[in-house]
Amino acid sequence: MPTRRKFLTSSASLGLLAAGRPLEAASLPPSAPLGKALVISTWDTGLAANLGAWKILSKGGHALDAAEAGVMVTEASQNCCVGLGGNPDREGIVTLDACIMDDQFNCGSVAALERIKHPISVARRVMERTPHVMLVGEGAQQFAVAQGFPLEPQKLSPDAEKAYREWLKTSAYQPIINVENTRGSKPTGPVGGANNHDTIALLAQDGQGRLSGSCTTSGMGFKMRGRLGDSPLIGSGLFVDNAVGAAAATGQGEDVIRMAGAHTVVEFMRQGLSPKAACEAAIKRLAQIKGSKAHDIQVCFIAVNKQGQHGAYALQKGFSYAVCDDKNQQQLLQSDYLLT
Ligand code: GLY
Repeated sequence: MPTRRKFLTSSASLGLLAAGRPLEAASLPPSAPLGKALVISTWDTGLAANLGAWKILSKGGHALDAAEAGVMVTEASQNCCVGLGGNPDREGIVTLDACIMDDQFNCGSVAALERIKHPISVARRVMERTPHVMLVGEGAQQFAVAQGFPLEPQKLSPDAEKAYREWLKTSAYQPIINVENTRGSKPTGPVGGANNHDTIALLAQDGQGRLSGSCTTSGMGFKMRGRLGDSPLIGSGLFVDNAVGAAAATGQGEDVIRMAGAHTVVEFMRQGLSPKAACEAAIKRLAQIKGSKAHDIQVCFIAVNKQGQHGAYALQKGFSYAVCDDKNQQQLLQSDYLLT
């Protein structure tokens, strides 16, 4: 656990951060030099996820293990938008989506998975123990149980139960953007409030320079039964090309899908853009696609390149992301954004 915690209010107080504006910094447990080791993840919930990933990296572990372990922390927490504590679909059932990808183009995914605590681990088993990339719904659950994952009770968390009852009063979809933030730039509505959806996406580079990523969510709160967003889709919610870099998305999944978001960011990096510039270019493309409707949504990207540089960019104000690197420090950064 961090031994020292500093709250920072301006970039001037921290000095040289190229990637984003610092909101908070904390020291990490001391470790041996870790080469290019780096973890970056979405929202301030990423702070805890990064520590889970860093435990693996600081022992010289593989980026894939770090990517899985990091987001398992969020899946196990009572979070409005990730794991079994998340908001349900409009039938009142929590359905989970996740994907994982390593440095060799191996990838696995599950979607619309019910009653399993760690969808990211099932996605990894799909990758490692089946000839497939993606399993959905009942088949994904059947596979998970066959692999020894316990079937959890079909029960909403107290917060999700409350939010669902509230939603039933109108059954209207009124998303509140940036709800995943619990500190820093506050959301416009209550944290965990009705109709929200978001994601933990995490990118890791290990001491040997191997990249991997993970992405997991309960998806849009009170979504139509069967709705999938970007998070289980390789190329949309997550993409890793170890020769170039890795990228991941959070926000309105439908709009990330329509532009193959994470893959697009990696392709911009392949063309020579820095991670931040690649995220910005992808957001600008999305803004062009959406026109005046861009103001109604939030989409954010994070990226890492092979050189160990990282960056992020959002469509709208309010996106924060967490970064651990080999300077034995973790930072919560405020992303730059396009729309004013
Ligand atoms: N980005 C998560 C979702 O739209 O489901």
